[in-house]
Order: sequence, then C-alpha cells, then structure tokens
Amino acid sequence: MNKKILIVGVIVVLVLIIGGGTVYFLLGRNEAQESVDVPRAGIEIPSIKVATHATLGSYLTDANGRTLYVFIKDSANTSTCEAECLAKWPVFSAGTIKADESLSGGDFNTIVRKDGMSQTTFKTYPLYYYSGDKIKGDVAGQGLGNVWYIMDPAKDPAALKEGGPVAAVQQIYTLADITLHGTPENCWLAIGGKVYDVTQIITDRKHPGGAPIVQGCGKDATSLFETRPMGSNTPHSEAARTWLTTFYIGDLK
Ligand code: HEM
Repeated sequence: MNKKILIVGVIVVLVLIIGGGTVYFLLGRNEAQESVDVPRAGIEIPSIKVATHATLGSYLTDANGRTLYVFIKDSANTSTCEAECLAKWPVFSAGTIKADESLSGGDFNTIVRKDGMSQTTFKTYPLYYYSGDKIKGDVAGQGLGNVWYIMDPAKDPAALKEGGPVAAVQQIYTLADITLHGTPENCWLAIGGKVYDVTQIITDRKHPGGAPIVQGCGKDATSLFETRPMGSNTPHSEAARTWLTTFYIGDLK
C-alpha cells in the first residue's frame, strides 16, 4: 500500500515538473516572439510587394507598402533621371531582391547607375519612389508629366511607352488626390472639372499674377481662377486659358 502511494506520489511530482517546465517553456517562447520584431533566421520578408488602389488597380510597392514608379523616358537597364530629378524621384534599391509570392522574381534585377548607386529594375525599367508620397498607399506621382507611372506587375513598362501614356491610363483624380499636391513645389489644381499640374509655373516664376496662384494649390481653384479676388476681380483672359491647357494631367472625379 505504502509502496503504491509512493509510486503515485513520484508520478504526480514528475507530471508537475514536466508540465510546469512545458508551461514555462511555452510562456518564455511567446514572450520572446512578441517582444522581438525581426524576422527569425531563414524567413525572408519580401522586399517588393503588390498593393491595390481603388481606381488604379494593382501596383508595385517596397516592403513597407511605399509606391514604386517607372519613368517612361528611361530605357532598358538605363536610368535617365539624375540630379534634380533624383531629388524628386529617389532611387529604389531592394538590396537582395525577394519578390512577393504573387510576383515573378525573374522580372526584377539590379543595375548599377552611372553615379554608382544600385537600382532595382522591373522588366528592365529602373524603379523609383516619389518624394511627394507621404504614407503607404499614396500614389501622388501617378501620371506626373505624363511620364511617371505606377506599375501593374502584369503589364510591361515598354508597352506603356509604345501605347503612349495617355492611351494607357485614363487619369481621373479625386479632390483627395489633389490635396496631396498642395504646395508651391508640388502644385495641382482643379479648374472647371479638369486637373492641372502647374508646379513649373510657380518654380520658374512664370505666373504674370505672381504669388496668388499658390492659393489654388491642392484645391478646386475654379472660382479663384475665374474671379481673382486678390487682384482685378475678373476672370483670366483667353490667353491664360490656352496656356493652362498645356498643364492638363487629367479629369476631376
Ligand atoms: C487659381 C489660382 C490663380 C490665381 C489666384 C491667379 C491670380 C492672378 C492674378 C491676381 C493676376 C493679376 C492680374 C489680375 O488681377 O487681373 C493673374 C494674372 C494672370 N494669370 Fe493667374 N492666377 C491663378 C492661376 C493661374 C493659372 C493656373 C494660369 C495659367 C496656367 C494663370 C495665368 C495668368 C495669366 C496669363 C495672367 C495675366 C493676365 C491674364 O492673361 O488674365 N493664372 N492671375
């Protein structure tokens, strides 16, 4: 009898020790997993991903969801964006390329630019960020100057070039899109249902009316354009309207 109690006792003690150890082990692991925010060895985080925009569809992003662009003036494996252009359109370099599962890894490569920097390419086209994009999901560079485009991974940047950018993408902007371009260095405005990028007029100091044009940046500036409340209180001339058409980038939704 005593022997039986002893055996049962030993078993109970063993179960407690092993069970407790397991609980301690599991808790310890969970704690470690929660507090450490880096991938464990052997697991690679994709450096290139795909996101979806409500009206523009699928497009390439970096690991953090930041939008990537191609420049249709570039050619295969050669970037023509330098100096001032690069300040606006920083180079994207993924380092070791690890494309998301939904992408074809063979579409991506790395080139060494003339200035010595590495740049990741998609179907031979160098990829860039846009300095006007502030947060994940921003696509403020889309269609700028009719030469900068986000990339649907199913499409080919060369085709965008051949088909002509206007034919390839019909630009429809919401007021929220325009709000992202509300500074003198990056000024879009809507006038009469059309959207214009007038940044160049401001940075080159070409507006005959001077600084007041900045008041229209990032807005529906129809009434400002038609009334000039800080000036003559009259609509802009026909000459002004003709000039305006050269800055057209799309329509207001
Ligand atoms: C929407 C914001 C704008 C404001 C508040 C604005 C304001 C003014 C003002 C105050 C003048 C001085 C003459 C006057 O008071 O009658 C002026 C002249 C002028 N502006 Fe603007 N402007 C704006 C946008 C533009 C744009 C987008 C263009 C063309 C791309 C433009 C082209 C001109 C031209 C050509 C003149 C010379 C006078 C004329 O031809 O009407 N402006 N503007």
